[in-house]
Amino acid sequence: MKLRCIACGTIYPADKIRYTCDCGNLLSVERDTFPTSTKLFDDRRASRRSIDQSGVWRFREAVLDIDDAEIVTHPEGSTRLYERDGILFKHEGENPTGSFKDRGMTVAVTQAVRLGATAIACASTGNTSASLAAYAAQAGLRALVFIPAGKVAAGKLAQTLAYGATCLAVRGDFDAAMSLVRQACDRLGIYLVNSINPFRIEGQKTIVWELLQDLEWNAPDWIVVPAGNLGNTSAFGKALAEAHAAGWITKMPRIASIQASGANPFFRSYREKFAQRHRVTAETIASAIRIGDPVSYEKAVAAIRDTNGVVAEVSDEELMAAKRDIDRMGIGCEPASATTLAGVRKLKLTGQIVCVLTGHVLKDPDAILKNVPAEQMIEIDPTIDAVERAVKSLP
Ligand code: F0G
Repeated sequence: MKLRCIACGTIYPADKIRYTCDCGNLLSVERDTFPTSTKLFDDRRASRRSIDQSGVWRFREAVLDIDDAEIVTHPEGSTRLYERDGILFKHEGENPTGSFKDRGMTVAVTQAVRLGATAIACASTGNTSASLAAYAAQAGLRALVFIPAGKVAAGKLAQTLAYGATCLAVRGDFDAAMSLVRQACDRLGIYLVNSINPFRIEGQKTIVWELLQDLEWNAPDWIVVPAGNLGNTSAFGKALAEAHAAGWITKMPRIASIQASGANPFFRSYREKFAQRHRVTAETIASAIRIGDPVSYEKAVAAIRDTNGVVAEVSDEELMAAKRDIDRMGIGCEPASATTLAGVRKLKLTGQIVCVLTGHVLKDPDAILKNVPAEQMIEIDPTIDAVERAVKSLP
C-alpha cells in the first residue's frame, strides 16, 4: 500500500502522515494486490463478526492493509436498498451517525490510531463532524471540528456536541473553515480527516461496492450522487475503476453528480468540459453541500471522465420538491440527498438508476418544520369537539 500523486505520480509511503503531494495535488491510495473474486465478500454476509457485518470492512482486502484487531468500527454500512417507482435508493442515512460519512471515517480513524495520532480534526457542514466525533469518542481521541458559525443543521450540531467534540464555530463559510483546518493541522500536529485525506476515500468506495453487491454484481446504468466537497464523486469513480479492472463487474455504470444551483462550481466546470476550475460563494437550503471550492475537484473530474458521467445542477425548489417526495415514500432524507431524485428528473435519466441518499431525515429538522402545511399541523383545545372539527376540516 502506498500513496501516489494523481497529477505527477510521485510515490509516498502510506505509514507517514501526508495529505497532498509536494506539487500540491491530491494523493490516492494504491494497493500492491487487489482481490479478483468477490466470493469472500459475499460469504461474509452470513457472518456474525462485526468486521464482516460492516459494509466497509467486509471488503477490507480492497480497503486497507491492517490487522483485524486494529479496526475501529461501529459497524457501519450494510444500508438498505429501497425500490420506489422503478428507482433504487441506497439509504446511507442508515449509517450509525445517520450519514455516509461513517464509511470514510471508520477507515480514517483506524489509520489515525495506527499512525499514533492523539487528536483528529475536520472542517464540516455537519455530517463529517458528527461522524468524526462519534469515532473519536470510540477510539479515545481528542476531536476538534471547524464549522461555519450558525450554518450547521440542528441534528448534526447536536450530535457533534453530544459525542464530545470541541467545535470551533468559524465566522465564515465552509470554504474558510476548510482552509483554516488545513493550516491548524499542519501547525498543531493534528491528524486531518477531511476527504482530502486519501484514506477517507478508501472507505467511501464501499458505498458503490455494497450497492453492486446488493445487485449481485450486475451494474446499474446510473449511480446518482449529491456533490459538495466532491469526496464521494471521487470515491465512486475509484470504486468503479477498481471493480471493473478486477472483473467484479463487466459493465461500467455512469455517475451522475448533482449540485445545488447556488453551490455549483463543479457543474460550471463540467459545462465547459472542465476547461477550468471554478470557485463560487455558495448559498443553498441544502446546507450539507453549501460549498464553493471543493477540495477533491481533480479526482472528481477523473471520476466523471472515466465513467462517461454527467454533472447537473438543481434549484432549491427542485431539490425540496424531490425531498418531499422521498419523505412521502416513507424513506426520508435530508435536503442535500434529494438532489439525486431532482437530478434524475432534470436529466430525464432512463434505465436502472440507483440514487444514493446521503443523510437521514432527522439531520435537518428545520428544513421540515419551516415548511409545514397548515392542514398538517393543527393546534386544538383539549376537547373532543375540537378534534372532530379538525378531522372534518381535512382535505
Ligand atoms: N450529502 C450530505 C448529506 C453531505 O453531508 C455531504 C457532504 C454531501 C452530500 C456531499 O458529499 O462532499 O463528498 O461531495 N458533507 C460534508 C460534511 C461536506 O462536512 O459533512 P461530498
